[in-house]
Amino acid sequence: MMKKMKIIGGSSLIFLAACTSNETANNDVDSLTDSSDLNRVEMTSNNYDGFQLMVSSCFSCHSPNPTIENPVAPTLAEMKMVYSDHYENQADFEQAIITFLENPTAENALISSAIEEFGLMPQMSMGQEKSAAIAKYLFQNGVETENWYPQQFQAEQRRVKLMTEDLSDIDRGFEYAMGTKSILGKNLKGKLKAEGPLGALSFCNLKAYHFTDSMSQVYDASIRRVSDQPRNQENTASAMELEIIQAFKKQLAEGEEIKPETREFLEGYVHGYYPIVTNEMCMKCHGDVNQMEEGVHAKILALYPEDKATGYAPNQLRGIWVVAMKKRDQE
Ligand code: HEC
Ligand code: HEC
Repeated sequence: MMKKMKIIGGSSLIFLAACTSNETANNDVDSLTDSSDLNRVEMTSNNYDGFQLMVSSCFSCHSPNPTIENPVAPTLAEMKMVYSDHYENQADFEQAIITFLENPTAENALISSAIEEFGLMPQMSMGQEKSAAIAKYLFQNGVETENWYPQQFQAEQRRVKLMTEDLSDIDRGFEYAMGTKSILGKNLKGKLKAEGPLGALSFCNLKAYHFTDSMSQVYDASIRRVSDQPRNQENTASAMELEIIQAFKKQLAEGEEIKPETREFLEGYVHGYYPIVTNEMCMKCHGDVNQMEEGVHAKILALYPEDKATGYAPNQLRGIWVVAMKKRDQE
């Protein structure tokens, strides 16, 4: 039986993620530039921990606290209840979560009222393995039960805090990029609610946006977004970054899962690269200019006279995250 859930909360016209740029963590490694003698580092495969992934990628929007005020998305508990009401067995439950994460569209959504309420979720580009780990965690743990948040949650946080120290470079970079994306997405959502899409556009332009999350200290890294078709020319991809963009585009075009990669830079540093893929909601500001809401394109051009970031369709590579980190992996 299909159950639709009514979620209480504010509404907004559109929702967008990660709109600001050049967030730099406390440790500035931005000065690292391309070097010709790069080594490709093999991607490692892990037994991912669903809770750990949700800390960086989901909780900023899907609050683990069921009684949070002014939610920007269904709470974790609401999500779990709807899915477990709808899917009785583990395989179906997990597959439905994975399908939505891989492709967050209205067709794949169960909670139709949440899209009206909060706008469509951004494409997270997590990859199958990580999506599966989250789905499994959600099925196996009683995140919707009364005691979970007041009791279990803290214990889980302590548990994964210890684990994070052992992450491989590529997974550490992923957590950092996703953490940034989800926090920016959440903050922007508040801005949209208050000032609408035109107001949010100026917010995207705010270079002075400070990335203050504690993750920057934990990860000791800096983060950028770059593109082959940048809106802000400061986000222009370098020759080396263009190479990665081309590789990601090819994987996307061939229907493969995009494989993040790391490359070594100066002695002791490594850069991680992760895809930024469009979905429907990005079209408001990156799609066909003739379809944009009144005034939006004019304002974009006023702010970014050299804008190249329009004409996209959903499910295209908009750019990449570039995370510069101190190397930890052993050879
Ligand atoms: C930037 C905010 C944001 C982040 C980060 C985010 N979500 Fe969402 N998510 C939403 C919003 C808004 C909705 C409700 C609208 C919709 O269904 O698209 C949603 C809906 C969902 C749904 C329900 C879809 C349905 O069936 O109706 C699931 C499941 C979900 N998210 C899982 C996740 C997981 C797992 C993560 C972390 C990997 C995550 N989300 C990260 C904003 C976010
Ligand atoms: C409200 C309008 C708006 C929406 C919606 C929007 N963006 Fe943007 N985007 C911008 C603006 C403005 C910039 C320039 C920010 C800056 O000055 O760095 C930008 C920049 C970017 C950049 C950095 C590279 C560049 O071109 O400067 C990426 C990557 C990006 N957006 C991806 C996305 C994705 C993916 C979505 C959908 C999930 C999205 N954007 C939705 C307005 C928007």
